[in-house]
Amino acid sequence: MKLATRLRAVKPSATFAMAAEAAALRQQGRDIVDLSVGEPDFDTPEHVKAAAREALARGLTKYTPVGGTDQLKDAITVKLGRDNGLEYARTEVMASCGGKHSLYTAFQALFDPGDEVVLPAPYWVSYPDMLVLAGAVPRIVETSAASGFRMSAAELEAALGPRTVALLLNSPSNPTGAAYSADELRTLGRLAAERGLIVITDDIYERLTAHPVAHLGTLVPELRPNLVVVNSVSKSYAMTGWRIGYTAAPAELIRAMTVLQSQTTTNPTSIAQAAAAAALTGPQESVEAMAGEFAGRLALMIEGLRAIPDLRTIVPQGAFYVFPDASRFFGRRGPDGTIASAADLATYLLRHAGIAVVPGESFGAPAHIRLSYAAARAVLEEGLARLAHALGRLD
Ligand SMILES: Cc1ncc(COP(=O)(O)O)c(C=O)c1O
Repeated sequence: MKLATRLRAVKPSATFAMAAEAAALRQQGRDIVDLSVGEPDFDTPEHVKAAAREALARGLTKYTPVGGTDQLKDAITVKLGRDNGLEYARTEVMASCGGKHSLYTAFQALFDPGDEVVLPAPYWVSYPDMLVLAGAVPRIVETSAASGFRMSAAELEAALGPRTVALLLNSPSNPTGAAYSADELRTLGRLAAERGLIVITDDIYERLTAHPVAHLGTLVPELRPNLVVVNSVSKSYAMTGWRIGYTAAPAELIRAMTVLQSQTTTNPTSIAQAAAAAALTGPQESVEAMAGEFAGRLALMIEGLRAIPDLRTIVPQGAFYVFPDASRFFGRRGPDGTIASAADLATYLLRHAGIAVVPGESFGAPAHIRLSYAAARAVLEEGLARLAHALGRLD
């Protein structure tokens, strides 16, 4: 069958590919420690599930307005005011089917063919593909462990060209956990504002950090006419399967995105919207508890990884991933031949040590592997033991 040309430029998500391979091996009876997944292992908070049950009982099972119910839109505005000091009206927010769908819809509504969008590498796997699908050109700024994987204003400035229209920031970042300080955000934001850039902030890990900082939108209020805030209930409230993300932006963009959504998914699931509203406005203790547990697990991971010779790991500031540089293992020999890349290393670890990690190539960081610590401590300990053993066996 003939497929559309636009698909040629798009790769499947590497994280989901690795998770699928791990699941397939498990089905064959293999014991796999899966540190590839990007989702909290906690259950959705009880009051959120109760809100969904209540929505069902009340018969809220029909179409809702395309961009979400008034109840959810109001909950989003309340959240943005409470957590981020950002004031948005109902007309300036909308819900979509997960943060990924919010980003996709925003990109489709914003970019024309050839528009350049600056983003730092390492980046979340889906950004370049989603940008390419929108016809945009990703302008990638390499960052390094030495600078904590944070892009400086000088690096941003050097990347700007006549076709640059937007800057995409994700702090804390997947995969590095890098988080910008308020000063850094202010400098980057002011430069973006001076150049008239659209700034898209992907705040999906904002609650999962030990060092919360003010939002870019409050630090650089002049950005507001060009600011696109994307967030989701997936990670903060352990609700990855519910598929609710949201966008706050000038009403003009929200209207355009709503038109697109009306011709694609229509509204996100009605029951999930009720649950998301409860998550955003209800008790927030579960978020704090989860973030606290992640901090403990991070300490465990760092201690374990730093004990492995030749693996170089910097301490992330947020999210729930560690992203060690594994390049010193490239060139060593395993049972299937020489390990030449992070992809080879991940394959070796999965097949011969039963541990699933994601290779760095698809994050724009081919020297690295990503390990998620969104798993129980016993699982992490077993994963670290397998990793240390397997890496020690390469020669
Ligand atoms: C940086 C980043 N943005 C957005 C998303 C999308 O999340 P969701 O679509 O589950 O809300 C993810 C998920 O892994 C992510 O890591």
